[in-house]
Amino acid sequence: MRALPVVFDCDPGKDDAFAIFLALACPEALNVLAITTLGGNVPIEHTTGNALRILAAASRTDIPVYRGCARPMLKALETAEESHGVDGLGGSGLPDVSGAPQPDHAIAAIIRMLETCPEQLTIAAIGPLTNIAMVLIARPDLADKIGHLAVMGGAQGRGNMTEYAEFNIHVDPHAAHVALSVCAPITLVTLDTTRNLRPPMSWFEAMEHANEPARALAGMWREAPIALYDVAVTALLLWPELFTLEACTIDVVLEGERAGQTVITTGEGKDRLLTGIDEVALLSRIAQTMTG
Ligand code: RIB
Ligand code: CA
Repeated sequence: MRALPVVFDCDPGKDDAFAIFLALACPEALNVLAITTLGGNVPIEHTTGNALRILAAASRTDIPVYRGCARPMLKALETAEESHGVDGLGGSGLPDVSGAPQPDHAIAAIIRMLETCPEQLTIAAIGPLTNIAMVLIARPDLADKIGHLAVMGGAQGRGNMTEYAEFNIHVDPHAAHVALSVCAPITLVTLDTTRNLRPPMSWFEAMEHANEPARALAGMWREAPIALYDVAVTALLLWPELFTLEACTIDVVLEGERAGQTVITTGEGKDRLLTGIDEVALLSRIAQTMTG
């Protein structure tokens, strides 16, 4: 079985780092073609540098990093240093950035990968959706080259930025509207199923002496634990049997008090909403994979 070609579009960010480390631990299943970055959890200078730091920690500096959009389409950027630390990987203890991103912008790089990839591309979108939206605005003809857009974002219940909005959608609701309405089959991983995916520190400590990625993860969660939001996206690509999905349609509220809210109607539609996770099996699989 050929490894699935995947691009991580992200704002590392601690849980982004975990999502990428998990993917890189499974090269037989996921072929990470590139990391594309944007402003989100921390400004783009940090998210891009962090992508390079993550790849170096996993000894995968062969994977290119492309710097994307520094800010949302219309709104000013909002960041989340309180959760991720000033540099975005607080507590990781990873060495400072070495190397540099590729010269091409992430938008151009994603367009080129969609044009040239011999098979449809999976995009793991685990930050605001600005890069993805700009690709689709520039080249709507490429939407059908996206085989699967796996998105961490949104909420059916309470948000984590406002009562209604989850961070990735809140930061750029306009981009989310474009990406979620134009794109290919989407799987939406929301706060509802991930906000309580919070393993104990003992789970991290059991893996931390295995390798540099696991050590960095334990350090980050020891400093300030967060839910494994983005990790669920990678795990869904790796082990779909551990997840329950429902057909749905997704709309995004763009203005007013509910701006950034995802209005998700289940029962029918081209997209899929993650509605259940076998958390015990998932945490066991992740620990086994990260220490393998
Ligand atoms: O709301 C959680 C999401 O926002 C995660 O992707 C986290 O990394 C932040 O980007
Ligand atoms: Ca993220």
